[in-house]
Amino acid sequence: MIKAVEIESFSYDYPDGTKALADINLVIAGGEKVAIIGPNGAGKSTLLLAMSAFLKGAGTIRIDGIEATTKNAKKVRSILGLVMQNPDEQLFMPTLFDDVAFGPMNMGLGEGEVRSRTAEALKTVGLEGMAKKPPHHLSGGQKRSAAIATILSMAPTIITMDEPEASLDPRTRNKLTDLLKSLSQTLIIATCNMDFAASLCERAVLMDEGRIIADGDAGKIMGDAVLMRTHGLEVPAAFS
Ligand SMILES: Nc1ncnc2c1ncn2[C@@H]1O[C@H](COP(=O)(O)OP(=O)(O)O)[C@@H](O)[C@H]1O
Ligand SMILES: [Mg+2]
Repeated sequence: MIKAVEIESFSYDYPDGTKALADINLVIAGGEKVAIIGPNGAGKSTLLLAMSAFLKGAGTIRIDGIEATTKNAKKVRSILGLVMQNPDEQLFMPTLFDDVAFGPMNMGLGEGEVRSRTAEALKTVGLEGMAKKPPHHLSGGQKRSAAIATILSMAPTIITMDEPEASLDPRTRNKLTDLLKSLSQTLIIATCNMDFAASLCERAVLMDEGRIIADGDAGKIMGDAVLMRTHGLEVPAAFS
């Protein structure tokens, strides 16, 4: 059975020598919702970049059985979509419509298909009335939703997100949680917000200093006060 994500002994050092990932082994099955938790600097973002074939490290990463190498980057990114931490990095076209249509257009899809995918993605994130707006006129929460739409329009089967809840007010964050819960894709969410992670994921992977410290049931890992404190995190209200 081919796994959504299969990482074997993967390590990555940044060009300045920083050891960001060390001997990562991780298997994620299709349909799982997994929280990658850990303090700042743990290696969460680096791991997401590696899964999207942006980094050349040691070891192997397979996405739906396809190795995440530079050569396969385009294919890998059509299967696995990364919602980056800063939505401004994902929104660069004159209108929201153009941004959400950009991915499917790049995939070489016909105009009708591009239009219907764009409309559907905007509807899913609740921005259907905003297609003509310039992305820089959107609020912080709307930008986050727009960034998610730019990924949904490519119809990936796996979605990774880097701290998607960051800087959202509680109501907007709850709406995001509901949206993410409703998605059928495999979800991999990097976050240091334990309440957010607990509200969404049944499995947690705890990282610190570039390594996986624990991997398993979210309640068991995030409910372990000593483990959480040791790694600069806290037990979420749901598990305390
Ligand atoms: N472009 C970069 N060049 C050098 N070191 C980096 C770079 N990006 C991140 N790092 C370092 O790699 C480590 C892991 O960072 P990161 O993956 O961003 O952690 P997290 O997302 O968990 O906060 C940190 O020590 C960080 O300082
Ligand atoms: Mg990060």
